[in-house]
Amino acid sequence: MDGNGRWARNRAFARIRGHRAGVESVRAVVRAAGEIGVEYLTLYAFSQENWSRPRSEVCALMRLLEKFLRNEIAELNENNVQLHAIGQVQDLSEQVRRQLALSQEATARNTGLKLILALSYGARREITRAAREIAREVQAGRVSPDEVDENLFARHLYTRDYPDPDLLIRTSGELRVSNFLLWQISYAEFVVSPVLWPDFRKEHFLDAVREYGRRQRRFGGVSSRG
Ligand code: FPP
Repeated sequence: MDGNGRWARNRAFARIRGHRAGVESVRAVVRAAGEIGVEYLTLYAFSQENWSRPRSEVCALMRLLEKFLRNEIAELNENNVQLHAIGQVQDLSEQVRRQLALSQEATARNTGLKLILALSYGARREITRAAREIAREVQAGRVSPDEVDENLFARHLYTRDYPDPDLLIRTSGELRVSNFLLWQISYAEFVVSPVLWPDFRKEHFLDAVREYGRRQRRFGGVSSRG
C-alpha cells in the first residue's frame, strides 16, 4: 500500500494524514474484492522494516491499525469478511494484539473473503524461521533430510493455510518487492499501478484484476496457444 507519504507531502500534510487517507482505500478495496469473489486478499500493512521509521509515525500507524480493527468489525461482518494476520504478531503492543484477536474472533464465522493483514512481516525472516523449525524437526529425528521438499517447507510458513497469490499489485509505481511473500510470489503476476495508495479505489483495483485476466500464465511451461 505504497504512496501514503507522497500523497501527504503533495498536500503539505504530515505523513500520518496519508496513512489515514489510506484507510479509506483499504475499505474500498476490501469491499470490491469481496464483491467480485476474490477469496484471499493480503495487505502489506506494516513491514518488519517499518519499525525503523520515526517513533511518532510508528505510534500513529499502530493507533490507526488498532482503530481500524476496532471500528471495522461491523463492516467486515456486513461484507462476510474473515480477518486473518501473518507476520511477527508478537512484536505488536499488547493492546493491538488484543484488538486483533477480538476482531479475528468476531469475524471467524464469516465465509466470504479472507482478509490477511501482513503485520510486522518480513519474508526473509519468515523463511529463516521456517528453516529453523525444520532443522529442529530433523535434529529431533521427526523428519528426515530427504523429506524436506517444497510442500513441507511451505507448511512452515505463516501462509501455510493459504494458497499462493495469483496477483501482486504494487501501488505508486514502485518496482520493488520489498521483502514481501518472497517464497509465495514465485509465480504471481505483477501489476504496478502509478496511483498512490490513498487515491487507489475500486476502479483501480478492478483495472488491475482485468490486467491480470489478460495475462497468460505458464508456470515455466509453454502456453497452450503454442
Ligand atoms: C507505505 O506508504 C504504507 C505504510 C507503511 C502503511 C500502510 C498503512 C495503512 C494504509 C493504514 C493502516 C493499515 C490498515 C490495514 C488499517 P509509505 O509511507 O512508504 O509512502 P511513501 O512511499 O510515499 O513514503
